[in-house]
Amino acid sequence: MNQVIENIRARRSVRSFDGRPIPKDVVDALMDSANLAPTGANSQPWRFVVVQDPGFIKKLSGLCEPRYRKWMENAPQQLKDMRKEIDAKVSDPIYYGASAVVFVVGKGMTSDFDCPMACQNIMLAARSLGIGSCWVFFGQMAVGEDEVKKALELQEGEKVYGPIALGYPKEGFPEGPPKRPASVKII
Ligand SMILES: Cc1cc2nc3c(=O)[nH]c(=O)nc-3n(C[C@H](O)[C@H](O)[C@H](O)COP(=O)(O)O)c2cc1C
Repeated sequence: MNQVIENIRARRSVRSFDGRPIPKDVVDALMDSANLAPTGANSQPWRFVVVQDPGFIKKLSGLCEPRYRKWMENAPQQLKDMRKEIDAKVSDPIYYGASAVVFVVGKGMTSDFDCPMACQNIMLAARSLGIGSCWVFFGQMAVGEDEVKKALELQEGEKVYGPIALGYPKEGFPEGPPKRPASVKII
């Protein structure tokens, strides 16, 4: 095994953070890693908004939480069960006390393919630096709010990917859910 594969294997969604801020040089390294992901025709159709203001992260969580609860009412049972377990352990069911939340903002023909790769680069680079991450779909639930649009400077046609919650894990890196073996056909 090499370090890249070890790192891929060791990444797990982290939902418990100790509140330590992420130093600027580390944030820079994560954003640089994001920016190096492959993109259609090298278009780099993205920009990154890193929210580190704890008050604003709290505000974002507060905006999302009621929508999240409503959305969960019609969620598949498997997700309801999973979230029940998670919610029982956390006080913030959206960002889990993360020190930073990264909104990957993209626009353009290939951004639906490119931006998730930038997200993955952030998560893998974070893991390699001992930082936990979690892609938080529920964090999208606030991006329609004027205040959030303004803060993110969202322009017509731009979409948000992630957001990615980041922070130092409070209880180490969890084992994570079991994975089915890959279904592979070789021709
Ligand atoms: C598109 C996407 C959306 C996700 N949204 C959430 C979310 O809103 N909240 C959350 O806690 N985890 C979220 N996750 C994390 C998944 O639950 C997690 O990746 C999955 O359970 C597998 O666990 P692992 O990341 O530890 O391998 C999301 C992951 C992806 C890829």
